[in-house]
Amino acid sequence: MCNLSPSLLSANFYNLENDLNILYEENIKYIHLDVMDGVFVPNISMGIPVIASIKKNTQNKFILDTHLMIENPKKYIDSFKDAGSDIITFHREVSEEYLELIDYIKSKSIKAGISISPDTEVKSIIDALDKVDLVLIMSVHPGFGGQKFIENALDKIKYLKELKTKNNYNYLIEVDGGVYIENVKKVIDAGCDLIVSGSGVFKGNIRNNIREFKNLFRG
Ligand code: DX5
Ligand code: ZN
Repeated sequence: MCNLSPSLLSANFYNLENDLNILYEENIKYIHLDVMDGVFVPNISMGIPVIASIKKNTQNKFILDTHLMIENPKKYIDSFKDAGSDIITFHREVSEEYLELIDYIKSKSIKAGISISPDTEVKSIIDALDKVDLVLIMSVHPGFGGQKFIENALDKIKYLKELKTKNNYNYLIEVDGGVYIENVKKVIDAGCDLIVSGSGVFKGNIRNNIREFKNLFRG
């Protein structure tokens, strides 16, 4: 069954504790942390101290699913690991040495993910699929919450699912951007394991939103 990874980008930064408590009470396992540098993407979000504070105060209640939308991710892997990230995902578009970077992240005893933006093809990461723990398919152009789902993500998810089954690969398939209760069914059907949603979770009643997502996961 799918899991939800709520993106804290849409949470209430003035009272994160309240929002995190609700996620915990609703049995959420993953939380998605969007790190933006204003260079790879035209926006700046949260960083290392925020993640460290969440880890310190929630201990091991959540798997910290960290999505780096930054240039030069290699430089910051140790800091994110020390802050408490359990999964570190970087973008294929920023790293020619992506295979080495996956090995480096895994050598720190955490999980390594690779992400592709809407204009990047799955074939650009084919040789990473036997070693990576997670593939993150962007279904919006990275940088902002609340955008519209881009449909080409569905074929990429299906293709990754096919390759995973055929070759016995271990990666989780994650989708990120524009996923709401109204359209989540199509990413589930395409074969997603992990579903990121920011505004779909935090806008309105968080508890009800999570419950509705989970009902749809159960089919
Ligand atoms: C966008 C981020 C997403 C974002 C998703 O660059 O990677 O994780 O928070 O937000 P929604 O679900 O609102 O599209
Ligand atoms: Zn994200």
